Amino acid sequence: MDGVLNVRSLAVAGVVTGAAVLGYLAGRRTGRTQLLSQSFKSDFGGKGNPLVQYAVDHSLREHPSLKNLRLMTLKVPRHAMLAAPEECQLLANIARAIGARKAIEIGVFTGYNCLAMALALPQDGKLIACDIDDTNVNLGRPFWKEAGVDHKIDVRIQPADKTLDDLIDAGEAGTYDFVFIDADKASYDSYYEKSLVLLRPGGLVAIDNVFLGGKVLKAEDTWNAATAAMVRLNKKIHKDPRVNISMLTMADGVTLAFKC
Ligand SMILES: C[S@@+](CC[C@H](N)C(=O)[O-])C[C@H]1O[C@@H](n2cnc3c(N)ncnc32)[C@H](O)[C@@H]1O
Ligand SMILES: *[C@@H]1O[C@H](CO)[C@@H](O)[C@H](O)[C@H]1NC(C)=O
Repeated sequence: MDGVLNVRSLAVAGVVTGAAVLGYLAGRRTGRTQLLSQSFKSDFGGKGNPLVQYAVDHSLREHPSLKNLRLMTLKVPRHAMLAAPEECQLLANIARAIGARKAIEIGVFTGYNCLAMALALPQDGKLIACDIDDTNVNLGRPFWKEAGVDHKIDVRIQPADKTLDDLIDAGEAGTYDFVFIDADKASYDSYYEKSLVLLRPGGLVAIDNVFLGGKVLKAEDTWNAATAAMVRLNKKIHKDPRVNISMLTMADGVTLAFKC
């Protein structure tokens, strides 16, 4: 797409912030830097794979405001948290395919996926956007407005667990079409359970970073609390009869769970 996502510019962007690379080395947001620094080597399967770059080059159709938001985000500290564009595009396509009207984003950051999702929702659609910190959210807001979809996004700044409880208490159980979980790993299981309460049958919960940069493959004595929580959740969902699932090898691993 007009050269913006070519490897060279992304590699330059990727080395500008050494902190992001360090965060990457610490295994925080491994999948995310894939597009930012193609030269970085890791044991994560998609990394440096020319076919991954080919797929992005031949499928990404980034709305101009999404592109502007992404380029702005690359200048933000911790920009490695940015969601992978091809993943957001897939989620938006699925949201449209299932006729999503009500969605929830758990972990907004600068709101790249929020914008992709809001663009996929109808004019009267609603996206509940959960984060504990509005600093980065506020950086993204002008781009939501530029795209003309800011009216669909309802930001709730407090722990996402509390926001999900608020929605359940407000009688909204069974009314949501789509949830994207992309925040603190230790709470993923709780987010997953509450998402299943809030979703309608046929609704989808998408869970990001299920590979944790490959840490889920490492020996158990190397796991931190986040890795242990992710491994446990991956095992649980595999056997969960309440959902139909796919675990995608895209980005840092994405599980799609459709509520039965
Ligand atoms: C990986 S970033 C989200 C990236 C985003 N989905 C995107 O499209 O680029 C994770 C976000 O989760 C937020 N977060 C961390 N703990 C949280 C909590 N308990 N409740 C809600 N948000 C939380 C962080 O502030 C951060 O903005
Ligand atoms: C789940 O899969 C079964 C077939 O295994 C199908 O009958 C059912 O409709 C599916 N449900 C959803 C929500 O996809």
